[in-house]
Amino acid sequence: MRVLVIGANGQLGTDLCWYLASEGDEPVPLTHRDIEITDMASVKKAFSKHMPDVVINTAAFVRVDDCELNPDQCFRVNALGARNIAVAAQEIGAKLVFISSDYVFGEDHSRKEPYTEFDRPAPINVLGRSKVAAEEFVRHQCSKHFIIRVSGLFGVAGSSGKGGNFIETILKAASQQPEVRVVSDQVFSPTYTRDLAPKIEELMKTEYYGIFHITNKGSCSWFEFASEVLRLVGQKTRVVPITSAEWKAPAKRPGFSVLDNYHLRLLGIKEMRPWQEALVDYLREKGHIR
Ligand SMILES: NC(=O)c1ccc[n+]([C@@H]2O[C@H](COP(=O)([O-])OP(=O)(O)OC[C@H]3O[C@@H](n4cnc5c(N)ncnc54)[C@H](OP(=O)(O)O)[C@@H]3O)[C@@H](O)[C@H]2O)c1
Repeated sequence: MRVLVIGANGQLGTDLCWYLASEGDEPVPLTHRDIEITDMASVKKAFSKHMPDVVINTAAFVRVDDCELNPDQCFRVNALGARNIAVAAQEIGAKLVFISSDYVFGEDHSRKEPYTEFDRPAPINVLGRSKVAAEEFVRHQCSKHFIIRVSGLFGVAGSSGKGGNFIETILKAASQQPEVRVVSDQVFSPTYTRDLAPKIEELMKTEYYGIFHITNKGSCSWFEFASEVLRLVGQKTRVVPITSAEWKAPAKRPGFSVLDNYHLRLLGIKEMRPWQEALVDYLREKGHIR
């Protein structure tokens, strides 16, 4: 299968290209230099050149606070970019995998139950609203679509858009500061891109079109995640829990955005392992632990 991976040098895109090649698929990696998703002509040109069977769109404007400060650019990339890709994929009859986010949820402040694919999105920030708009475009413009909502990604390549990932940021801060302050009132499911890539590959070969939540199993707050990272590497720096109000970021974040991988379970597809196990593998892969 020829698979166009858009955002190929990003955190998820890197692991997708590596995994697809290892499975004997034919990944065609496209970086921002090769394609501009906000430009319909650029998208159509790339599609007609490569004629893929499957398109995976991982490209996005991912910096949550910058989305809040620059909503036009956020909607241009995340929503209109997703629309352009959906239109072009439909035109050549390709399957489309679109990567969405747990931030499509968040309005229900008392929520303590993981969200299923059958819960109604209700975002509380610009990034979340742009992903809801993107999902609508994908659903309406491309019939053979998989919308995959993920959360708290960590991958060996690090986020291209964010210039790293949370784990590396915490490790660096902990090596330079006497203590690190981390929010404890945002709960999510950390997800290793190396675990996610095989699930996407498995799903794209089916005709189970629709929305999927795919995350590592379990959940934690960013404070708990940071504490586990430092515990595993043997770093003794104190981690101090703070509230989102104390952090004072421009964008609101959901207090709870854990995704139930219900659709996978209904289909009898194996869910992913607990995030703690995935984290150990990540830290080994990066050489932080043996
Ligand atoms: N990271 C998370 O915690 C998280 C959580 C929930 C959902 N997601 C979603 O998961 C997906 C993958 O995330 P990631 O962490 O792998 O992101 P990433 O590392 O920042 O990769 C995104 C890629 O998209 C490219 N890109 C951005 N704008 C583009 C444009 N206009 N045209 C073409 N390419 C463009 C970027 O290239 P340049 O950097 O060169 O511009 C980059 O290679 C995204 O859709 C994101 O919204 C991520």
